[in-house]
Amino acid sequence: MRKNIVAGNWKMNKNLQEGIALAKELNEVLSADKPNCDVVICTPFIHLASVTPIVNSEIIGVGAENCADKVSGAYTGEVSAEMVASTGAQYVILGHSERRAYYHETVEILEEKVKLALANNLKPIFCIGEVLEEREANKQNEVVAAQLASVFSLSAEDFSKVILAYEPVWAIGTGKTATPEQAQEIHAYIRSLVADKYGKEVAENTSILYGGSCKPSNAKELFANPDVDGGLIGGASLKAADFKGIIDAFK
Ligand code: 13P
Repeated sequence: MRKNIVAGNWKMNKNLQEGIALAKELNEVLSADKPNCDVVICTPFIHLASVTPIVNSEIIGVGAENCADKVSGAYTGEVSAEMVASTGAQYVILGHSERRAYYHETVEILEEKVKLALANNLKPIFCIGEVLEEREANKQNEVVAAQLASVFSLSAEDFSKVILAYEPVWAIGTGKTATPEQAQEIHAYIRSLVADKYGKEVAENTSILYGGSCKPSNAKELFANPDVDGGLIGGASLKAADFKGIIDAFK
């Protein structure tokens, strides 16, 4: 059966010392009170090599927030999937709406990134989701279907290593969460697209996370939906107590 996962996305927050302190605190808190789901923290690149040795990998997985769409070479400032994997990280967020909007990542670029991540044994946490105007025009289904093209060119074997995250852009950092009904409706639709492409078994085994203003107070009702398999958490992943509160929604 598919896994329940709570993943943190630190975004561009925490300097190295602050990040190490947060990872240590989280490791202590979750070692003392073991989670009932997989837990992942996705950190800025520079934190990865310091964070992976200080967390218990049986309890906390570590991931990057991006990787390059090229293997190696003269791409100043880029960080490859191989470099990410060499830190001990096991995951990488790809296709986050902030990368799509501010860094112009297209379906084609993301397809390359996903392939390179998988070639380096990183599990992609692949994000999809519509902006407010698209939701208001009731276009969310066609938007997520088009975004899934980046992962629907994979073989079934490779696709089964991908974690999907539905993040309505209008709910990210806004305090405005999708209702549990809105989340369930589109998660079920996303799962139906996976079933159409790869069959029912693969679809049933795909974890689909919800992201967007998820907090301890709303996580339980969101995660209670049959097609919501956990969360991708931004702001609330920056404090151990809040992140733990969301993880505890699975208790
Ligand atoms: P917030 O939880 O801060 O709304 O961010 C969600 C997100 O973008 C996670 O990737």
